[in-house]
Amino acid sequence: MKVELKKTHLSEAKENILCVFLLQDEEPPYDIKRFLRDAKKQRYEGKLLQTYYADTRGEAKFRHLLVVGLGKKEEFNTDNLRRAAGHAVRYASSLKEKSFAMHLPSRFVARDELMKMVQAMAEGAILASYRLTKYKTKMEDIFEVEKAHIVTEENVADGIRLGTIYAEAQNYARSIDELPANIATPSMVAAEAKKLAKSHKLRVTVFGREKLKKMGMNGILAVCQGSQHEPQFIKIEYNRGKKLPLFCVVGKGVCFDSGGISLKPSKNMHEMKYDKSGAINVLGIVRAVAELKLPIRLTGLMPMVENMPSSTAQKPGDILNMYNGKTVEVLNTDAEGRLILADALSYAAEQKPKGIIDIATLTGAAIVSLGHHAVALMANDDGLAETFHGAGEDTWERVWRLPLWDEYGEMMKSELADLKNVSETGEAGTITAAAFLKEFVGESKWAHLDIAAVAGVKWDHPYLGKGASCTGVRLVADALTRLSKKK
Ligand code: BES
Ligand code: ZN
Ligand code: ZN
Repeated sequence: MKVELKKTHLSEAKENILCVFLLQDEEPPYDIKRFLRDAKKQRYEGKLLQTYYADTRGEAKFRHLLVVGLGKKEEFNTDNLRRAAGHAVRYASSLKEKSFAMHLPSRFVARDELMKMVQAMAEGAILASYRLTKYKTKMEDIFEVEKAHIVTEENVADGIRLGTIYAEAQNYARSIDELPANIATPSMVAAEAKKLAKSHKLRVTVFGREKLKKMGMNGILAVCQGSQHEPQFIKIEYNRGKKLPLFCVVGKGVCFDSGGISLKPSKNMHEMKYDKSGAINVLGIVRAVAELKLPIRLTGLMPMVENMPSSTAQKPGDILNMYNGKTVEVLNTDAEGRLILADALSYAAEQKPKGIIDIATLTGAAIVSLGHHAVALMANDDGLAETFHGAGEDTWERVWRLPLWDEYGEMMKSELADLKNVSETGEAGTITAAAFLKEFVGESKWAHLDIAAVAGVKWDHPYLGKGASCTGVRLVADALTRLSKKK
């Protein structure tokens, strides 16, 4: 879907449907007031996402008016608008309208908030219009709204451009993350990274099994030992070689996590195709950063593997010699994400970046502690954590920080090796996983995002359909934008 600015008064909107967003108890703009006469009869009260629909019967340039409620003024935040725009797209789609218009509400906010509002509207519309259709052989039930015009007299083209970059990067990532393990193999993802590099002038390097053996990336090699698919450690670079501050984004890329010999229960095991979300998010993040032309250098690192049981698979009790020289006792082969991330993080730390961010569907415990409404954040630097808090509020990919005290690190020490990959008790599983990763980042400033709870959407959401959400793309792109502005 394309979102375009139509710089005009709302009475000049000529689309079949004009959508207007209204706060509860707000006086409607003069030009639509007369079409709201049946509002009471339709029991429209202006609650969040409540809709009211009217035929203008030739009394206006637009044939139909759709009002979407924004809820109470005191409870308003920009995500309400992102949701309302998503709702409007779905409405237009149910009426099989190829294009429609949305009016930017500018009555109740300060001017500097307007850009964020219009950005959120563009994002909501583009995210809500996404659907992966290529595996449907019959297109009967599928209808795509192609265009949304944003009607306003304000100069907000930049906000629309930003929202479009963010949401299209997220949709691009979703279209890969949704693919199952028989299609999205490590080498298929490497091919996708190469395609992205070609279209966005990036540099890609892929390390296969032999190279990883030479490098001593034994964490990555151990996890994919039971799979017939060759591991692919993908490095994708933006602004390579330029004299700009370097940041590294590392994503967990497990194309399928069966648990390995510590096999997972079969119920819902198919959802483990989303265990590559972190790495796929990296593709979306790099794409957004390149399109935003941020004045930074960015290296995306994606260790891609499959975690399978087999006679060649790693076994509980195995001891690994990791890339940074530390030894790890593997007590549970299902705690595989931290093993591949450990090697990728030590590799990132060697580049001496200004900051390392990793993003991973790392622990089921993240769902236990925060439910599906937050990304768990752990960091060894307060400034970086603050940056993510701000980015989380603006993108509504909200983060919640958990502590990373030394005591949690103690829980990951092994009797036999330096570290073990799971603690004895399993308590504070999200934090102990991060405490394990902390052993591999050296002195680098580092933030860890556990997205296990938000990667796959299983419930109704106003702008993210069911399936791969790629939550984290907008969050990290926004955080990098903030970091690029810091001295
Ligand atoms: N990929 C899973 C984490 C996960 C669980 C993501 C549910 C999304 C939804 C990860 O590799 C895993 O299996 N973690 C184990 C760790 C445990 C063995 C310490 C877990 O969370 O149970
Ligand atoms: Zn696992
Ligand atoms: Zn996993």
